[in-house]
Amino acid sequence: MPGDSKIHHCLYFLRATQTDKQESLNMFTFNLPTTWIHGIGAIQKIPGLLQELHCTSPLIVTDRRLIDLEGFSRITRDLADSHMGYEIFGGATKEPTVTGFTEAAAKLDLKKYDAIIAVGGGSVIDTAKGLRVIARFGGVITDYAGFGKIPRPTGIPLIAVPTTSGTGSEVSDGAVFTDEAKKTKFAVGGLYNFPTIAVTDPAMTVSMPPFVTAVSGIDALVHAVESYISKHASTVTELFALEAIRRIGSTIETAFRNGSDIEAREQMQLGATLAMVSTVNAKLGFCHAIAMPLCALYGLPHGQVCGVVLPGVLEYNADVVPKKVEKIARILGMVSQDETYTASLFRQRLQELIDEKLGLKVRLMEHGYTEADNEAIVKGTLGSFQSQNNPRTISPEGIINITESIV
Ligand SMILES: [Fe+2]
Repeated sequence: MPGDSKIHHCLYFLRATQTDKQESLNMFTFNLPTTWIHGIGAIQKIPGLLQELHCTSPLIVTDRRLIDLEGFSRITRDLADSHMGYEIFGGATKEPTVTGFTEAAAKLDLKKYDAIIAVGGGSVIDTAKGLRVIARFGGVITDYAGFGKIPRPTGIPLIAVPTTSGTGSEVSDGAVFTDEAKKTKFAVGGLYNFPTIAVTDPAMTVSMPPFVTAVSGIDALVHAVESYISKHASTVTELFALEAIRRIGSTIETAFRNGSDIEAREQMQLGATLAMVSTVNAKLGFCHAIAMPLCALYGLPHGQVCGVVLPGVLEYNADVVPKKVEKIARILGMVSQDETYTASLFRQRLQELIDEKLGLKVRLMEHGYTEADNEAIVKGTLGSFQSQNNPRTISPEGIINITESIV
């Protein structure tokens, strides 16, 4: 019947309008200015890389707890064998503060060094990024708060060697600092803040304890997922994000339970860096937006908060990007091809992984939450720059619902 084809056409049109709107149709710029070297034993390339860059006096920035690790000794031994006049700054702390960072920068004679090697987690790499800026342009770190405040390339190569698989700071332009006076966090970002070279060596991550593995691994998964569904996702970022989701999803439990499983560590490291390559270009969303006030109010780790809100945030976004959320569920293997998918089934299974299997469950009441905090949580979430990238407009009710899911 002629009418039939019309109906089919209408149905097709309806279905077409129900697909995820931003799927790969937007104009995009893709930026990856950091050279990425990956593999077990990749740290052995560091002296050669410095020689190529014509550097002979690197400053190694690290957390002093890492200095005794085999991987760290290997780096310094190789530098000594190559006649590099390196020095070590072991005072990089977790979540660097403006005061702590300023004191550290003042103690160092930054003009002495022609390169910086950061060996550590995201906080160490962020500290190294900050020191590079101060070494070249002076001033205090707050002068560079925001995006694009670094005027020119620093001319000081930064080699970033992550020891956790999470923040992706080794390939990102961001460096996060805490302003204790204002009780806020701020980021220094922009084209001239990317590390010059990221050296991801899975052997450097085997010493991570299970909780850190879970928290940093879930943070990386959230980077991949949020950048995949972001309003700014592109054909290229989606490739990186989906690959990151697949690798992290298939190995996070193994890495958590058996930290010495080098294959799982390698997949997690690849996943974390791939996730940030996507994130740098496509940005983050609701999880990271709500994590800003929740971490500030209750002092909880960033990755843990991002993780425990992820199931609810995905269900919230499933109304707007249903196909993408279903794809994430299928790639994670949480809803098999034979099963009927629903957003709530996915939410339930993802929550089981994060809360129970990885032991990251949060009950805000235990950290001092009261209903009166909702106002600050809503304000902080909507005020976060990440909230603008979320595919579904973030409503105050949505924020309260997510908060109440972890009360
Ligand atoms: Fe994060």
